[in-house]
Amino acid sequence: MSQETYNYRVVRQFAVMTVIWGIVGMLVGVIIAAQLAFPALNLDIPWLTYGRLRPLHTNAVIFAFGGSALFATSYYVVQRTCHTPLFAPALAGFTFWGWQLVIVLAAVTLPLGITSGKEYAELEWPIDLLIAVVWVSYAVVFFGTLVKRRVSHIYVANWFFGAFILTVALLHIVNSAAVPVTFWKSYSAYAGVQDAMVQWWYGHNAVGFFLTAGFLGMMYYFIPKQAERPVYSYRLSIVHFWALIFTYMWAGPHHLHYTALPDWAQSIGMLFSLVLLAPSWGGMINGIMTLSGAWHKLRSDPILKFLIVSLSFYGMSTFEGPMMSIKTVNALSHYTDWTVGHVHSGALGWVGLVSMGSIYFLVPKVYGLKQMYSTRLIELHFWIATVGIVLYIAAMWIAGVMQGLMWRAVNADGTLTYTFVESVKATYPYYMIRLLGGTLYLGGMFVMLYNVMKTIGQGNAVDAPVVKPAASPAFAHA
Ligand code: HEM
Ligand code: HEM
Repeated sequence: MSQETYNYRVVRQFAVMTVIWGIVGMLVGVIIAAQLAFPALNLDIPWLTYGRLRPLHTNAVIFAFGGSALFATSYYVVQRTCHTPLFAPALAGFTFWGWQLVIVLAAVTLPLGITSGKEYAELEWPIDLLIAVVWVSYAVVFFGTLVKRRVSHIYVANWFFGAFILTVALLHIVNSAAVPVTFWKSYSAYAGVQDAMVQWWYGHNAVGFFLTAGFLGMMYYFIPKQAERPVYSYRLSIVHFWALIFTYMWAGPHHLHYTALPDWAQSIGMLFSLVLLAPSWGGMINGIMTLSGAWHKLRSDPILKFLIVSLSFYGMSTFEGPMMSIKTVNALSHYTDWTVGHVHSGALGWVGLVSMGSIYFLVPKVYGLKQMYSTRLIELHFWIATVGIVLYIAAMWIAGVMQGLMWRAVNADGTLTYTFVESVKATYPYYMIRLLGGTLYLGGMFVMLYNVMKTIGQGNAVDAPVVKPAASPAFAHA
């Protein structure tokens, strides 16, 4: 009788595409960073203009790179911790090809200037419909696997992945409601300030659930696995889960300070953002403390370095975010490069590093190997990426605060001290440093690609046999 195996095929597919889309999305990031320093780099070709490439960058890094990492890891984790192969494997295969099609359609339509104009939700209605179908299929596969689990317990990583999948479905469907006028043009179903409110309810929860909850799911599986230690506090993980998902929902208005949105709604956004610091740090502390008794492993294990340093950036950006949501601080930071610095300490530091660490853990496993082709190359990647992040975010913080101060400086007679173009000129050196930092970060991805390709070359695409659940907690054997 043939032995039942985990479905690793779809995990392998998404894991490889994480690296490829990471390179594509970050390459576009480096190009737009170069365009901000040298505007002539758009070569006067409409498809290459900044306004079209910027959404291509954000879509590629968030949904193609981050999305593929989330699919790969959630499919791996849910099977292992439930001791059962994926539910509906053909549907899981469909989610892979459907998601790739969404990405290709985005890569074609955005440079052509086809956009709904809503940030992080730019894709036009036919693509939005496809996303909804793929996402509902993802939910069926994921929750179907949970339902047929062979252990009664649902490991906490699955709670986070599950919340991410459900909430993103809700956000996407509500925010994308639109009236189509042609095949490639639609108008939002909402108008005026309601449209802005719905958009930033979506936008902030895209940060909270797409860029945070799903990656916390990764953190809760891969850190204990790599450190070979149980989660520091299981109770804290549950409190942290409910507090985080409840609080995120209300914080969106901090993106709309000093706008036509009613003042009380702005204040609620600020209040919930400040409260959000507590659950965010609860998660960070739980992850870092999981290393108790295994700190020495950080010295020699670069995968653990990726995972733990990602949590430090998570802690940093979730401290900075609440500060920026305070109205008087936002009056300085909004419209400046400080926001871009905050975004990338979360994106490069947290989302990027935790994904890379998890993929380095997972690739050898799904190719029947004990470890990656080269540990030294993982170490090299870690250092290039970390130096790149520090250059990027430090440059943007300095540039941002400088811009905010220059724009608000007034002379004794009430006239502005600086013209806008003077602030642009002053920003130039920082744009060059950001370009260098971004290029280093992208360079790290090429090192990763080489290492992953070599590993795949050494291994075989084998599906491991399903591990029989034991009387002890599910996770220990997963
Ligand atoms: C090589 C690495 C990267 C470089 C060089 C880069 C560069 C850039 C640049 C130049 C912008 C436009 C900033 C502006 O409009 O002033 C930007 C925006 C953005 N990037 Fe990246 N990026 C990189 C990686 C990433 C990654 C990995 C993510 C997410 C996982 C990400 C998420 C974003 C987001 C969300 C924005 C929009 C920010 C906003 O609206 O404030 N980036 N990036
Ligand atoms: C406690 C958690 C957080 C809070 C309270 C928070 C708060 C904020 C605030 C106040 C802004 C500036 C809004 C503006 O002036 O327009 C902002 C922007 C942003 N944050 Fe956070 N942040 C948090 C965590 C994160 C994390 C972990 C990430 C990434 C992984 C992230 C990604 C972003 C993005 C992409 C934007 C730019 C949105 C845009 O204008 O396009 N944030 N955040």
